[in-house]
Amino acid sequence: MTIDPALHDAIRTRRTFAIISHPDAGKTTLTEKLLLYGGAIHLAGTVKARRQQRHATSDWMQMEQERGISVTSSVMQFEYDGYQINLLDTPGHEDFSEDTYRVLIAADSAVMLLDNRKGVEERTRQLFAVCKRRRMPIFTVVNKCDRVGEDPLKLLGDVEADLGIDCYPITWPIHSNSAFIGVYDRRRKLIYRFERGDDHGASEADVQVKALDDPSLGDMLGSEAHGQLVHDIALLDEAGHSFSESAMLAGTLSPVFFASALTNFGVEPFLREFVELAPPPMARESTSGLVNPADPNFSGFVFKIQANMDPRHRDRIAFVRICSGKFAPGLSVTHVRTGKPLRLSSAQQFLARERSMIEEAFPGDVIGVMDRGTLRIGDTLAVDDDLEFSGIPRFAPEHFARIVAADPLKRKQLDAGLRQLTEEGAAQVFYTSGTDTLSPTPIVGAVGQLQFDVMLHRLEHEYGAPCKLEKITARYPRWVVGAQAEIERIARDRGRMLLYDAKGHPLLLFEDQWGMRWVLERETSVTWHDVAP
Ligand code: G4P
Repeated sequence: MTIDPALHDAIRTRRTFAIISHPDAGKTTLTEKLLLYGGAIHLAGTVKARRQQRHATSDWMQMEQERGISVTSSVMQFEYDGYQINLLDTPGHEDFSEDTYRVLIAADSAVMLLDNRKGVEERTRQLFAVCKRRRMPIFTVVNKCDRVGEDPLKLLGDVEADLGIDCYPITWPIHSNSAFIGVYDRRRKLIYRFERGDDHGASEADVQVKALDDPSLGDMLGSEAHGQLVHDIALLDEAGHSFSESAMLAGTLSPVFFASALTNFGVEPFLREFVELAPPPMARESTSGLVNPADPNFSGFVFKIQANMDPRHRDRIAFVRICSGKFAPGLSVTHVRTGKPLRLSSAQQFLARERSMIEEAFPGDVIGVMDRGTLRIGDTLAVDDDLEFSGIPRFAPEHFARIVAADPLKRKQLDAGLRQLTEEGAAQVFYTSGTDTLSPTPIVGAVGQLQFDVMLHRLEHEYGAPCKLEKITARYPRWVVGAQAEIERIARDRGRMLLYDAKGHPLLLFEDQWGMRWVLERETSVTWHDVAP
């Protein structure tokens, strides 16, 4: 393999990550502050303002505005200290967790953001589980340190016990009379003493930096804070875990940072360490073995499809994460699933949703490819036509409903809409017999309730098929693999609904977990799966 120095350099300096958190932990605020320190915006407040502005751009996004939530993701690219950073934004609302999971597949590391009073919350736990399964490096940021929160040692102990990951504080908070005044960076042995500006954190915080052995440190911090810091450092060094890069890369040890996204305190020390510690794009598994990012042949996979981003053009954009090689406009690739050639004539890059055309892109980057309905989530685009990345796992829906067209003559539109929503990954559709789309009533599944509302809204406004839902109480699906006659017998004997997903895989629906376990333990002539096999 010939080594292209420009490609090599681009890979070395790429950092692609996503933030995982429970709503309200401060993800929007932190994102904004990272963009501020990355020079991508000049005054914080822009992301939130843009969030409001962009609601005007699409009518189904009106729903987001009414609900005050963000249901779409975007990709933000910025530079810091010679690094090119791609921050993959994840939807904030828990009902859209499936979308969030897919974004994590496209990231190389995750930043777990915690509220200093609440620690690990429900949604953090779910997203953490996905990162852990993928053995992704996970960085922890404890936010809102400007307010008195849980004792840092106690908080980290809780994180370790709850999530089963070791914590290694890289920065440590410094308090003076309960006020958060700075952080100590244990790797650099530097103290950052911040001053609050008078613009509520809209611009970078003033900071003084001193080495741990600087004789004037006591004066800068005050004797009480200084004494406490010396005590804390000794305690961490003696009683804490030691730092291990391999454990960090395997996702079993999390580097921890303390910060206040609101006041900007500790944000830059985090960013500075993060770019050095977080991994660049690594080799990814495919059907032809590991694909090295430095392989000059382009490859990537679709992890998200978004339709109708701009209501004036009924376009679909496929978000492609580049895994190897370099992208340049005009590149010819194979759409591996269909074997058809595809010319990537134009591609878009995103900065907080402002689209711009790009000249080149590298592993770790995300490009938006215009699509006329051929691409699906998980599809591989590659110069080598025998290479396919392992599929993006589906996540089991937790809500099911029959979907009925209000006007029976609109059945064609309903089917077209459902097909599109399925390809985008916005819905999972099931049928009662095989993949027969003419079966009287398709059944839709969603990870969360809100996803149904978006489905109905889009079916009506984009496909002209107003529908209503009839809820099904059973909500625990188990995919089943075995002889067809046996599967049908189990469904009959156990009185369960037998469905087929869009690919024709059979599944049974259960009312409650207890009843499900009871059946699974007894019916061992088939194998059961949480998600589609
Ligand atoms: P999210 O995207 O994770 O849901 O959180 P977001 O950034 O919207 O922040 C949620 C709330 O927490 C906001 O307050 C925000 O100002 C506050 N917050 C974020 N970071 C910090 C921090 O470091 N310290 C403190 N004290 N608060 C923080 P809000 O009152 O809901 O909204 P707003 O009126 O301030 O926008």
